[in-house]
Amino acid sequence: MNQSYDCINGDATDVLSYVKLRGGKTFLLGTLKCKAMLEWLHGRFEAASTKLHSLTTRQLFYGMLLGFSLSVTSTSLALYFQERKRNRIQSQFEARPIELRSDEVVDGVTGLIGNTPLVRINSLSNALGIEILGKAEFLNPGGSVKDRVALRMIEDAERQGLLYPHTGSRIFEGTVGSTGISIATIARARGYEATIIMPDDVAEEKVKALLSLGAEVERVRPASIIDKKQNLARHRAEHFGQDNLHHPARLRATSFSVVVTTTAADLIAPEHGPVTANDEHELRTKPRGFFADQFENKSNYDAHYDGTGPEIWRQTSGRVDAFVSGAGTGGTISGTGQYLKSMNEDVLVVLSDPEGSGLYNKIKFGVMFDMKEAEGTKRRHQVDTVVEGIGINRLTRNMQFGLPLISDAFRISDAEAVAMSRYLVQNDGLFLGSSSACNLVACIKLAKKMGWKEGQRIVTILCDSGSRHYSKFWNDDYLHRANIPINTKIIDDLLASTPIEA
Ligand SMILES: Cc1ncc(COP(=O)(O)O)c(C=O)c1O
Repeated sequence: MNQSYDCINGDATDVLSYVKLRGGKTFLLGTLKCKAMLEWLHGRFEAASTKLHSLTTRQLFYGMLLGFSLSVTSTSLALYFQERKRNRIQSQFEARPIELRSDEVVDGVTGLIGNTPLVRINSLSNALGIEILGKAEFLNPGGSVKDRVALRMIEDAERQGLLYPHTGSRIFEGTVGSTGISIATIARARGYEATIIMPDDVAEEKVKALLSLGAEVERVRPASIIDKKQNLARHRAEHFGQDNLHHPARLRATSFSVVVTTTAADLIAPEHGPVTANDEHELRTKPRGFFADQFENKSNYDAHYDGTGPEIWRQTSGRVDAFVSGAGTGGTISGTGQYLKSMNEDVLVVLSDPEGSGLYNKIKFGVMFDMKEAEGTKRRHQVDTVVEGIGINRLTRNMQFGLPLISDAFRISDAEAVAMSRYLVQNDGLFLGSSSACNLVACIKLAKKMGWKEGQRIVTILCDSGSRHYSKFWNDDYLHRANIPINTKIIDDLLASTPIEA
């Protein structure tokens, strides 16, 4: 290598002595050609350097300036086209949720609602060979999926002129807890009071959270299929003011179940005559009572159709085979399911239903019925299960929106839900509430029934955290007393089972 370098840089004598040294005469002709070429190259180089020397400093400066400008322009063009491409892709998906959380300052506590991450449940996905993806709704500031609904109900009421903040107005709702906590949280942030009516058998920590948030809590006895808590919430709202403002001639709301009363009844009494601009102002500033009615209020469905559904679509880049959810009011399954179906009608929408709920039979056989209701052994309000938040025995308006979309349903036992919750802690470090556990059991049952094992994607909702369920679902003593086994083998067996019939 070094010798050949010498050949190029040395003169003919050096080359000849090198050839001689190697003892060969056959290289002589090539060597002479090499010398001739070197001399020619040397001549060209001399000419070029003479030319370079003759260039002025000014010309050199212009040359460098041109080079620099060209490089800046080409970089800017590259960046411009890159940005255009990024904007084009992003315009299909709007703002990216995780970026919103990490890069931007959000506006108060309500700015933290929604845009939750979608998390792969590693243990179940690996075991099944498909992707089980959970929408981490427990990360909402009020701790559950219900934050979306509470915010949308209040915002819609404000938009429709039904509610005005900082007027001493009070929001009333009947709930098993989660919606109440969400309403109480947002009420505080927006300048309202809250009264929450709930059954007296729900987990005690929900009551503590509500009281800490400054809500007024009223508890009712678990009773018949008639929803006492809803009726009482409506009644309280009606009696907060002296007159119901929610009347077609006065205020128009998208949901006619909503009740809005005012304490300025004299201003709208028929004998008062036409309402003047002054009266109007006074009417707005007087405290109002507002019954939000999550079961019938379409804002519930809209929160999921406009929020949860599009988020899932973006987060999966449209690659989703099934959506699995339980139903408490029906808002989540109907709104999210409808949006996903509108994007791809092949997405399966599947119900996970706890014991004691009539929905399973409604989907499978068209009849809203559950054996436990008939037996007269009902232990709990709404549905007879340790699972809180899902399961119903009457068709709510928000559930009706979703009924035609739901193609299948799975009945989940308390034992299966409990087993799943413990399995997830052991294998994934995920500490979830009872309805999330039900949803994940239903995901396995669906995968088995469909015979899916090649990367199909099932998305479900992780509604709230286990910390909302310490006193019952996460209390082993309570479960023993209720004869509910705690056995993670149930999940191992389910995962290992061959395709099943639901
Ligand atoms: C913990 C929990 N999970 C799930 C749900 C069900 O959601 P939806 O009312 O949208 O059917 C609720 C409803 O209250 C809930 O509290």
